Amino acid sequence: MSKKVLIMDTILRDAHQSHAATRMRTEQMIPVLAQLDEVGYYSLEGWGGATFDTCMRFLNEDPWERLRTLRTYLKKTPIQMLLRGQNLLGYRNYADDLVDKLVEKCFENGIGVIRVFDALNDPRNIEASMKAIKKYGGQLRATDPARGIAEAAISYTTSPVHTLEYFVKLAKTYEDMGADNICIKDMANLLLPFDAYKLVSALKKSLRPETKLHLHTHNTTGTGDMVNLMAIEAGVDIVDTALSPLANGTSQPATESLVATLRGTEYDTGIDLNKLIPIAEHFKKVASQLEKDGSLNPKVRQVDVKTLIYQVPGGMLSNLMNQLKKAGKEDKLSEVLAEVPNVRRDCGYPPLVTPSSQIVGTQAVMNVVMGERYKMVTKETKDLFAGKYGQLPMPVDKDVAEKVLKGEKPITHRPADDLAPEFDRLKEELFQKGFYAQREDIPDEDVLSYASFPEVAENFFKWRKASREGVDMDMAKTGVYPV
Ligand code: CO
Repeated sequence: MSKKVLIMDTILRDAHQSHAATRMRTEQMIPVLAQLDEVGYYSLEGWGGATFDTCMRFLNEDPWERLRTLRTYLKKTPIQMLLRGQNLLGYRNYADDLVDKLVEKCFENGIGVIRVFDALNDPRNIEASMKAIKKYGGQLRATDPARGIAEAAISYTTSPVHTLEYFVKLAKTYEDMGADNICIKDMANLLLPFDAYKLVSALKKSLRPETKLHLHTHNTTGTGDMVNLMAIEAGVDIVDTALSPLANGTSQPATESLVATLRGTEYDTGIDLNKLIPIAEHFKKVASQLEKDGSLNPKVRQVDVKTLIYQVPGGMLSNLMNQLKKAGKEDKLSEVLAEVPNVRRDCGYPPLVTPSSQIVGTQAVMNVVMGERYKMVTKETKDLFAGKYGQLPMPVDKDVAEKVLKGEKPITHRPADDLAPEFDRLKEELFQKGFYAQREDIPDEDVLSYASFPEVAENFFKWRKASREGVDMDMAKTGVYPV
């Protein structure tokens, strides 16, 4: 039996998010979209994550317009996106009515597969998104079986509680919530090749045969290709790679290398390397342009072994070093690194990903610099203990919680239960800004952009209005007009 491996290429999203601060423009994608569509990928990741914010903030692009453009060219290949659970495309918790509306509009504008995750792996934080994905995705699937797919992702991390049993249980919970695919999301590149083999084997054994298992890793520490290969041997269905000009280092392992590795084996991807060459040539030029613009620092391509040594994600380590430098306590790094696992244990072992990596890191620095543990705590540490980010994998340390919460009672319900519906209120607020003659003229997509990043969206709408009304665009771009 063929065990054909499916590939999602991240060239239109994570590859340039990882290498070039998400600065690839739609016009840099268009020339090869039709060719990408002919490759035979499972999906092309092209939206979500930081693209939504960056489009408006730095590129003067409407993210929704980008999505519609991608969809025009990608006739066969589903467009995949990344959704941060109840945080959607932003950084706060949104009310359920916004979650529902955003998912509806994503599918309507061209998304085929939605990957949804929660940083803490609290299923309640992806509940509303999953419900909406099943509702609107189900309608889409009725006419197009390759689209409308719900992919629930596990944030991979290492700790005494993050055992195979833990991940299997979580994956089965997500499957029961309606996930068509389960993704192992190793954003911090902590998953090592032999552990990947064990994890994939355990998941494949426990999940339903029709559930696809998808692996997402990075190549920051140089283990990415080996992780993918071991996962493939263990039976993973889909892996993420990026075309070579924006692959490796902080991005995904290269597509071409994996396609060649698997050629002629039972895992053959069916992808023709010759089809990839001209597309890669195009992205080589795009990568040099991004480097020339200053968005891409060639350093991101190097192997960085710090994560392997210190067991904390690379981004978190540089944050710790910066904080210590500011405090003039650079000599305390080893003490802080020893304190990180202690703080993490105290607060119930959250995965070390944004935002918990910053919260745990900052608290570890404070504990060391102050010379007394939890003498000072940040608001974020308090909120984490108070359950406002969701349920932690393990109960928190009682004594520490008492010190941190100072009598405040932690919540045990789903954080978004405290939020009143907000779509109509935000629509009214946007109308009052005066960009539209009538309330009815406001597209739902604009309300969602505004809800996600109010100031950024408002600036973008000003720019867009000015450009539509024929104002000198160079003036508008420099911020001289409009302000
Ligand atoms: Co990633």
